[in-house]
Amino acid sequence: MISSPRCELINENYTAAATACDNNRKGFALTNFFCMMFLFGLSLLIVPSGSNSLKAMEKPVVLATTLGAPGGIYKCFESCIERHFTIVPYERFVQRKEQFAARIQALFVWGTSIKVDRELLQSLPNLKAVVNGGVGVDHLDIPLINSFGVKVSNTPHVVDNATADIGMCLMLASARRIVEGHNFSKFRESDEFPETTLGTDVSGATLGIIGMGRIGYKIAKRAQGSENEEKSVGATYCVSMDELLQKSDFIMVVVNLSPQTHKLIGAKEFAMMKPNSTFINISRGLVVDQDALVEALQKKMIRAAALDVTYPEPLPRDHSLLSMPNVIVLPHVGTHTMETSQLMVKRMVTNALAALTGDQLPDEVKA
Ligand SMILES: *[C@@H]1O[C@H](CO)[C@@H](O)[C@H](O)[C@H]1NC(C)=O
Ligand SMILES: *[C@@H]1O[C@H](CO)[C@@H](O)[C@H](O)[C@H]1NC(C)=O
Ligand SMILES: *[C@@H]1O[C@H](CO)[C@@H](O)[C@H](O)[C@H]1NC(C)=O
Ligand SMILES: *[C@@H]1O[C@H](CO)[C@@H](O)[C@H](O)[C@H]1NC(C)=O
Repeated sequence: MISSPRCELINENYTAAATACDNNRKGFALTNFFCMMFLFGLSLLIVPSGSNSLKAMEKPVVLATTLGAPGGIYKCFESCIERHFTIVPYERFVQRKEQFAARIQALFVWGTSIKVDRELLQSLPNLKAVVNGGVGVDHLDIPLINSFGVKVSNTPHVVDNATADIGMCLMLASARRIVEGHNFSKFRESDEFPETTLGTDVSGATLGIIGMGRIGYKIAKRAQGSENEEKSVGATYCVSMDELLQKSDFIMVVVNLSPQTHKLIGAKEFAMMKPNSTFINISRGLVVDQDALVEALQKKMIRAAALDVTYPEPLPRDHSLLSMPNVIVLPHVGTHTMETSQLMVKRMVTNALAALTGDQLPDEVKA
């Protein structure tokens, strides 16, 4: 068993790191890196048993995916949750439901690795909240969860910077053919870097942002820094989407999934885009008709595409999008940075704590 002083030490470091984070990003990154290094060599016991762990058991109990397991919360964020809760990893729960079920008050969902269905909800009589890491909750049946008197929360706002960054990153990487360049450096069979690998300028180009919400606005601000056309992010609002599609060199989709945006971009929209335009998807849900995108690329109706999100995720390795040299596909890493992931976990903890004390959840998502 791991002695508690070492755990406490990690928690102290974490607290220090979190404080530093608010005032000084650099300090945060350094301390946090240390925390990660430290945890790697250490296998923490997350469900204490036996007499000397009584203190730990006084904390409210939450169910979560196994930390460090595929699809779960990374181990370096564990201490953030454990400062307030005792974690029961999902597979321990499955083995010994009767031991844990009545004590579990919140469920931490990261990705889609825990299926929150009727059977699970029925087995947790004292569950108060399902706290989701990330903004999109399309993998959760909110009316079903609410019908058990259980609230649902997500982590808005904290994902905005990182998501806007990945949008810019994809735009630049696609325009300047970063992936092909790297592949060439690594695997080149000759010295010739063919003419077909010429990129396209981002400076001076027009960026169309479909969905001028929190993230869209941040993208506009970043784009302004790279001398795009928008006037001081007093970006020009297009009268119609057709106008945006016809005028833009880069088109970025940043909308939420809703009945209004379902298949917002399909064959008709791709047909309207300039033949040298680049389509960038950092959106959510079935906003884009993916088959129409494949066709637009094959028929050279658009220049290229850069996608952080696909359907399904991950794409089968033989999917036609993956065989096109002008397509970049990322494995949904929009929020995948140390800082943002940690902020998300902290937000999940804040929501779970509110649920346990009967307070309003700051990020409650209603059906
Ligand atoms: C996003 O970045 C800005 C700095 O550009 C910072 O002031 C703000 O706090 C960040 N937001 C979050 C939620 O991290
Ligand atoms: C990477 O380079 C190799 C060798 O030139 C080439 O055969 C392959 O198609 C390239 N892959 C991509 C994704 O560009
Ligand atoms: C795309 O083509 C149009 C007109 O042919 C041109 O004005 C624009 O600069 C081009 N954009 C890019 C990114 O090459
Ligand atoms: C755009 O992103 C969403 C989000 O996951 C995905 O469902 C959709 O298929 C994507 N479309 C394309 C063309 O990649």
